[in-house]
Amino acid sequence: MMILVGGEKGGSGKSCMAQNLAVYFAKHKNAIVLMVDCDPQRTTSDWIQARNTDPTLPAINCIQLYGKIRNDLLSLKQHYDYVIVDCGGQDNLALRAAMSVAEHVVIPLRPKRRDLKTVPHMEDMLSTCKMVNPKMLASFVITQCPALPTQANRILEAKEVCSSYGINVLDSVTYNRNIYDDSEEKGSSVLEIDPDGKAASEIIAIAEELLAMKPDNSHEFN
Ligand SMILES: Nc1ncnc2c1ncn2[C@@H]1O[C@H](COP(=O)(O)OP(=O)(O)OP(=O)(O)O)[C@@H](O)[C@H]1O
Ligand SMILES: [Mg+2]
Repeated sequence: MMILVGGEKGGSGKSCMAQNLAVYFAKHKNAIVLMVDCDPQRTTSDWIQARNTDPTLPAINCIQLYGKIRNDLLSLKQHYDYVIVDCGGQDNLALRAAMSVAEHVVIPLRPKRRDLKTVPHMEDMLSTCKMVNPKMLASFVITQCPALPTQANRILEAKEVCSSYGINVLDSVTYNRNIYDDSEEKGSSVLEIDPDGKAASEIIAIAEELLAMKPDNSHEFN
């Protein structure tokens, strides 16, 4: 299965989500996982490098690919249980190529106006890519949510913006927690640093929600 974590908003938490999902599949599903880093900033490659210096952490493979990567991804998919693609924050070729082969496209967004402004354009890109990859399941996930109960409305409003464009938005969200930032430093994941913590349960809930989604066969009835 290939999961693309993408979107065009910088800093929305794409790399963080991709890394934590990769650890989820390696740790909780005992799967062979490959990460594909399409971002010239190499955030995920650096994270893997830090991870590989710690022999106690289950190994995750990582390669860098840029540009027209559709065929590379198609052949890599056959050799791994899960391929997690981290696309950088631009509307680039690699993002579109990965959208054309992935089973899941996950788009992290903060509940902030500037992030939500990217939704119409993402919807546009997703519908174009659905023409070549009709079974692709696209979901927004709201990340870095404020924990204060008085701010809960912001999360609901963000979800409503996403659904108003007809794209699925996951029930599960991530809250703003330092452990996400702290775990990255060591090439680790919130699932490894504090397996019973709140951040770990957020990631598990997101992964399980993705896995429970049924393939999109709606095109067959159109
Ligand atoms: N739920 C969260 N709570 C707190 N911090 C978070 C959370 N999710 C991500 N972050 C932090 O936000 C910062 C940006 O995250 P990340 O690098 O994953 O974003 P990105 O979308 O990949 O950015 P870019 O567009 O530059 O690739 C990182 O320092 C990360 O640790
Ligand atoms: Mg990134």
